[in-house]
Parts: sequence; structure tokens; C-alpha cells
Amino acid sequence: MSIISNYTASAIKNASASLAAGHLVAFPTETVYGLGADATNKDAVARIYDVKGRPTDHPLIVHISSIQNLEKWAKDIPKYAIKLAESFWPGPMTLILPRTLLAKDFVTGRQDSVGIRVPSHIAALALLKDFESLGGLGIAAPSANRFGAVSPTTAAAVKIELGNFLNNKDKIIDGGPSLVGIESTIIDCTQNIPKILRPGAITKNLIEKVCSIPIIQNFTPDNRLKASGLLQFHYAPLASIFLDGNPEKNDGFIALSNISTPKGAIRLAMPKDNDQYAQQLYSAFRLADQKQLQKVFVVPPIGEDVAIAIRDRLFKASKSLR
Ligand code: TXA
Ligand code: MG
Repeated sequence: MSIISNYTASAIKNASASLAAGHLVAFPTETVYGLGADATNKDAVARIYDVKGRPTDHPLIVHISSIQNLEKWAKDIPKYAIKLAESFWPGPMTLILPRTLLAKDFVTGRQDSVGIRVPSHIAALALLKDFESLGGLGIAAPSANRFGAVSPTTAAAVKIELGNFLNNKDKIIDGGPSLVGIESTIIDCTQNIPKILRPGAITKNLIEKVCSIPIIQNFTPDNRLKASGLLQFHYAPLASIFLDGNPEKNDGFIALSNISTPKGAIRLAMPKDNDQYAQQLYSAFRLADQKQLQKVFVVPPIGEDVAIAIRDRLFKASKSLR
């Protein structure tokens, strides 16, 4: 596996040629890093599942370069979904829509719907556009971590997660730390009313403003919708996460910067606001594992903005079965 550290036009060309040849390319997005493959290539997509160690009935998100390509992958698109796409793409939002014949079982985990996203990271968009110029139709990409582990927000974290599983034809594009830091908001748009399946930086309030209809916020695990992010042992570091109680000496501690570090605890992050909290959360989890901490105490952020999504990830990490 090689790391592309400057995403120049020629480096991007090289990476999209790799995708077209059926290899894997991990790439930066504004949310987290994705592990990409040609979404129409069965063997390439199968390798994503191998490398991640992910069950094959868990669907992947197909990334496209613009709303113009949406109808290749999705049909019967409700008006509210078009409004959402126009308002928030490129950006940290995934729409679940009825699929066209292009979205094969091997990418949708045999569901009749497909998840679609236009990411806003400049390297991701450049890769998508270049891949499309070679005849590519979309890049299937889950977060670039082993199944159940913490999503990577840097190229170095991708290498730590997947380095042993990628081969010498695969690539990792380094696009710096992800700005949002947690995964996209997933919205089920297969019914009359939008339903948030996974909260993210595009919040219920923002969505309601655009759709002018009430929306359902439902992040409880629903096994019928094989959405791995909805399982309760996700987003977890090796350390145990505690959302209450007090840290003892050498336990990890994560809280907003206005909360001081309890005596003896090891501060892993001190974000100034909720946006920074999201940005820093996963790197703080990784730091805990690097330091081989057993326990991390976290003070969840309050508020109805991205704090909802942070609390969701914290809750899942704290309930981890590992
Ligand atoms: O921010 C993100 O969404 C990142 C970046 C790389 O785009 N991707 C990401 O992918 O988080 P992944 O596979 O780690 O999580 C996507 C979630 C999974 O829980 C998957 O099951 C769900 O989206 N999903 C995808 N297609 C779906 C579908 N058709 N119906 C229900 N859930 C779906
Ligand atoms: Mg994931």
C-alpha cells in the first residue's frame, strides 16, 4: 500500500486509475476517511468487506461527485430528498433511496435501497470527478476502519487500522485531519417522511427547515435495516468508555475545555466547542488506545446541534461489548 501525501492532479489521476483497475483507495472526506472501491466492480467491493472484516450484508454508501449523478443510482426520489440534496451536498449527509438496477446486491447488502453521498473534501471530489472521467459511476466507501472500531480521521489512523490488510496496489490519500470528525447524517428517504437513522453534523433542525415537514429521529438499533452504525458495539476504542463516575489516576478524560481535568487523570482532548468536540473525539479515542489506557471518562456535550451526534457515538462506545 502506498500513501499519497500531496493530492496533486497527477496523484489523483493515479489513484482513480487504481480504482478503475479494481484496487482499493482510502481517501479523505470531511466526515471521516473512507475505504473506496469502484461501486460497480463486484470483486473490488468484495475486498472492502475482506479488508474491513465486515459482514457482507451490511450496505455501503456510494459516493458520487454531484447531484447530477443521483438518478443513475436512485429512483422514485421524493421531493424532500431533492431539496435536502440541493441544500446539503456536497456535505456530511447520506440519503437512503430506492435503488436502480445499477446498485447491485453486492453494494446494498441485498437491500432494495441504496445510500448515496456527495462528500465536500476537495480531494474526495477531485478523485470522484477523475474516476468519472475514466467511466466510473461511483465509489463505494465505508469508513476506513476494521469492523466495529473507531472511524479514522487521519491518513495515519487509516494506516494503523488497515495497513496489514491492504496490498501493494492499494493506496491511501492523505488529505489532512477530517474537519467534521464524525460520520455523515444518514436519512432514510424511502418513505413519505424523512427519518434520521444516524445523527451527524446535518441536524434535525437543519433538515426540518429545508423539508418543511416533520421528521422522525430514530437511532435505536433496527436489525431489519442492516445498518452497522446502528449496532450498539460500534465506534468503540479498546479502552472502556464511561459517561459518568470519576476518573482515577491514569484514567483518560475527555471534556470541553471549560471543564478542568480531575486530579491524576490523563487529558485526551479539550475542545473549545461542540464542533471541535466532534472533530477531536475519534483521535482522542485513538490516543487512549495508543497510551494503552483501560478506562476513559467522558463528559458528553450538551445541546441540540452536533452534540446530538456526539452523544449518540459516546453512548454506543460506552455500551461496547468488547
Ligand atoms: O461519513 C460517512 O458516512 C463515511 C464517509 C466515508 O462517507 N462513511 C461511513 O460508511 O460512515 P459506513 O459504511 O462506515 O457507515 C455507513 C452506514 C452503515 O451503517 C450502513 O449500514 C448504512 O450506512 N447504510 C448504507 N446503505 C444503507 C441502506 N441502503 N439502508 C440502510 N442503511 C444503509
Ligand atoms: Mg463505519
